[in-house]
Amino acid sequence: MMDMINVLGIETSCDETAVGVVSDGHVLRSNIIASQIEIHAQYGGIVPELASRQHIRDISATVSSSLKTAGINMEDIDIVSATYGPGLAGSLITGLNTAKALAMSLGVPFIGSNHLEGHLYASWLKESGELPDTEPGFPLACLIASGGHTDLILMENHGNYKLVGRTRDDAAGEAFDKAARVLGLGFPGGPEIQKAAEQMIGENDLELPRAWMKGTLDFSFSGVKTALLHMAQNKGIYPLDQCQFTDDQVRLLVNQMSYAFQEAVVDVMVEKVVSMAEQYHAKGILIGGGVAANSRLRTKVVDRSNIPVLIPPPVLCTDNGAMIAACAYYQYQRGEQYGFELDVNPSLPLG
Ligand code: KG4
Ligand code: ZN
Repeated sequence: MMDMINVLGIETSCDETAVGVVSDGHVLRSNIIASQIEIHAQYGGIVPELASRQHIRDISATVSSSLKTAGINMEDIDIVSATYGPGLAGSLITGLNTAKALAMSLGVPFIGSNHLEGHLYASWLKESGELPDTEPGFPLACLIASGGHTDLILMENHGNYKLVGRTRDDAAGEAFDKAARVLGLGFPGGPEIQKAAEQMIGENDLELPRAWMKGTLDFSFSGVKTALLHMAQNKGIYPLDQCQFTDDQVRLLVNQMSYAFQEAVVDVMVEKVVSMAEQYHAKGILIGGGVAANSRLRTKVVDRSNIPVLIPPPVLCTDNGAMIAACAYYQYQRGEQYGFELDVNPSLPLG
């Protein structure tokens, strides 16, 4: 391990204070996440002011815990990285300043990473020491689906990205979160919708529309969200406090609508990324971002694709520091340099 390059990666772009240690860009040493879900769940969404304050409380202990789990000392860290965008400015600043301070005191390079690029590099992480054996080569057709983005990105090589499609309204994760609110489910909505939908697989006749955006690689999820709201009103479960049904009747309808909603959103994402892969003669498909944790998306894309599919394990799909450490290793390898004057960039693009 001593002759490997150890990167400490910090991610605080949204509501997770996350720190990971990764060696040589792919060996996962630790991945510690201090979640703020309980704080934000009571408001049904992320409250930026509360997020930034909580990052300040959690960052030191999360760094210590990440080093301890990795079984290494601070002096063994060769590079320190942090997400500098996109994300919430007040959240990003805590991770970024912590990374600068650590790099400065250790006298090692500091790297600023793009959160979206980090989501791609989650696919390079491996538990053991071997090289990423599934790497099919470039170009890769990449789908990043998170709370803030639904982007199709052509990855032509390390560090070489072209944005070829994106959502024109809501992000996929945002749509899951809003749908869950309509159905009276908790926050974040994605895992809740998935859980409810799992009760239904194979026995549902409710259908929601799919916005194919024909002739483009763009997405639109606001229509299906509105269609779900209308369906919930028509079936009599929205608003829930005026509903006349028994708990069991409500639960059945919520499960059916969750299933219909998940199918509609997943089908469009799967078809678009497969069609992009064909269009650009991709050697593989890569899926990342919180929505990539969705079990139905994972199954359907693997079934539908005839080229290799890279999807990280669910815990590495949602925001984490290890993906930032992996990403920073490749940035460092290609000679990227960042000064301590680097500021946060809430709308930093990729490609
Ligand atoms: O990447 P991420 O952790 O944070 C952002 O960068 O936004 O993604 C969070 C999003 C949330 O909208 C959440 O509902 C969604 O990912 N998500 C899921 C699942 N797990 C998380 N969506 C669908 N199915 C899931 N299992
Ligand atoms: Zn993310």
